[in-house]
Amino acid sequence: METKTVGIIGAGTMGHSIAQILVRSGYTVLLNDVSQQFLDSAVERIAKGLNRDVEKNRLTDEAREQALRRLTTTTRVSDLEAADFIIEAVTEKLEAKVGVFRAVEPYCGPGVIFASNTSSISITRLAATTQRPDRFIGLHFFNPVPVMKLVEVVPGLATSPQTVEAAERLATSAGKTPVRVNDAPGFVSNRLLMPMINEAAYCLMEGVADAKGVDDVMKLGMNHPMGPLELADLIGLDVCLDIMKVLYESFRDSKYRPCPLLEKTVNAGRLGRKTGQGFYGYR
Ligand code: CAA
Repeated sequence: METKTVGIIGAGTMGHSIAQILVRSGYTVLLNDVSQQFLDSAVERIAKGLNRDVEKNRLTDEAREQALRRLTTTTRVSDLEAADFIIEAVTEKLEAKVGVFRAVEPYCGPGVIFASNTSSISITRLAATTQRPDRFIGLHFFNPVPVMKLVEVVPGLATSPQTVEAAERLATSAGKTPVRVNDAPGFVSNRLLMPMINEAAYCLMEGVADAKGVDDVMKLGMNHPMGPLELADLIGLDVCLDIMKVLYESFRDSKYRPCPLLEKTVNAGRLGRKTGQGFYGYR
């Protein structure tokens, strides 16, 4: 079945920017979150992102207007009944994600595909909490979504080949490159990225170098566009910690133990750019 209308649950950093690339690619998007104020701010950010494309001559004024007309926001999950593909992009907590799928499923027809943008939680486990494990898949986007080409496509144990195809088609038509990855903790991206970020936090904690020193080594010596600590601030230190906990608990291997400095920084409410303070200050 061809996807035309996508329901996105969660209008935060990932949800709103997934909405942006989808309306830009011709999809109708229903963006859902619990507060209208949050949704209004998401629309503002999407409009800003599309304006940037107009300024850079990547989009005409008219195409931007059409894209914005394809976007509707709603605080009522029942309004997502019009969607033929649902993408969940709420907080990286199992209970929150399960709750969201339970809330929306009564309004969805049998052909509707559910996707989770989880960065580490088992797709098989999430799928099993719904009535449609064969039409459930992981679609893992990367921040900043308009710039990063990758989408990890993660089938669960019961995901059907038709669901995989539909998810890959959606990613490709939104200008992304899907890479199929099996359902394992952290998939490939965060199995590699998060231990690097965690180890960078250990280097900082043990005084091997200061934050700028750690980041400069990786930027100047390894050509990484950002150092691991500034990247952690971009991703959100709470998100990094949650993913390290999933790796640690899933593999039960001490090499994934979250760095105490990462935990302490999160406990202090220093979550990175979004709170104005993480490993660096942004005020
Ligand atoms: N949102 C939208 N667009 C953004 C952006 C943002 N937050 N930040 C930068 N951009 C755009 C800029 O507008 C610019 O585009 P145009 O000029 O063509 O309009 C382009 O990106 C390049 O930006 P800059 O020239 O300002 O900066 P840069 O060359 O240093 O690139 C960057 C910025 C793309 C963020 C680059 O530093 C980078 O690739 N960093 C690594 C990002 C990364 O690793 N992301 C993955 C995180 S992991 C994840 O998301 C998944 C997970 O599960 C945790």
